[in-house]
Amino acid sequence: MLITFEGIDGAGKSTQIKQLAGYLSSQDREVLVLREPGDTEVAEKIRTILLDSKGEISPIGELLLFSASRAELVQEVIVPAIAVGKTVILDRFFDSTTAYQGYGRGIDLTLLQSIICISTCGIIPDITFYLDIEPEEALRRKFSKTSIPLSFESEELDRMERSGAEFYRNVRRGYHEIISHNKARFVTINALQPVAAIHRQIITILEERFPV
Ligand code: TYD
Repeated sequence: MLITFEGIDGAGKSTQIKQLAGYLSSQDREVLVLREPGDTEVAEKIRTILLDSKGEISPIGELLLFSASRAELVQEVIVPAIAVGKTVILDRFFDSTTAYQGYGRGIDLTLLQSIICISTCGIIPDITFYLDIEPEEALRRKFSKTSIPLSFESEELDRMERSGAEFYRNVRRGYHEIISHNKARFVTINALQPVAAIHRQIITILEERFPV
């Protein structure tokens, strides 16, 4: 089974993924938590290029790097894990590419589809949890434990996060578009709710849709 989490940076995916993994493990499921980009030797190097670079990366270059990282992870880790019956929880998958590189950077969506198909070997998640939050609120959360002034240009942010408020508004709109075309696979969650309430919502939906 493949469960994916999506949402703009700062939506709270990692916290929910940790809690869900703990819950599923307590149910005697073999769980593997992965994140994109990364989680293979080559993919981690690509992650560093994508997130830590100070210079510019062209939109197509960025798309191909995310896709190369994904191809590595799918072939080396995801396909073998699913084949032996593990439950894979993945922090971002191809919907991130559609939202960020498609709606955010403006790359043609048909071209994206072909590249996604190549990099994923056609694998589609069984269920995708989308944590919805406004970009400004996500940024506020990110800076909440610091005294650093709130800005999308801040040095504290990674290369993607410095793309600005307008970029993030387009990414969020992109997610909403994607969901409207994939209603059966997506579950939209209001990320402003307390952590425990979101966790309960996720568990309830999983138990309803995939009873053991
Ligand atoms: P990460 O630090 O993992 O962010 P988060 O914790 O919010 O998931 O950084 C991943 C960044 O890469 C994030 O800004 C989203 C972006 N991204 C894309 O633009 N396209 C993609 O296909 C993927 C997987 C991620």
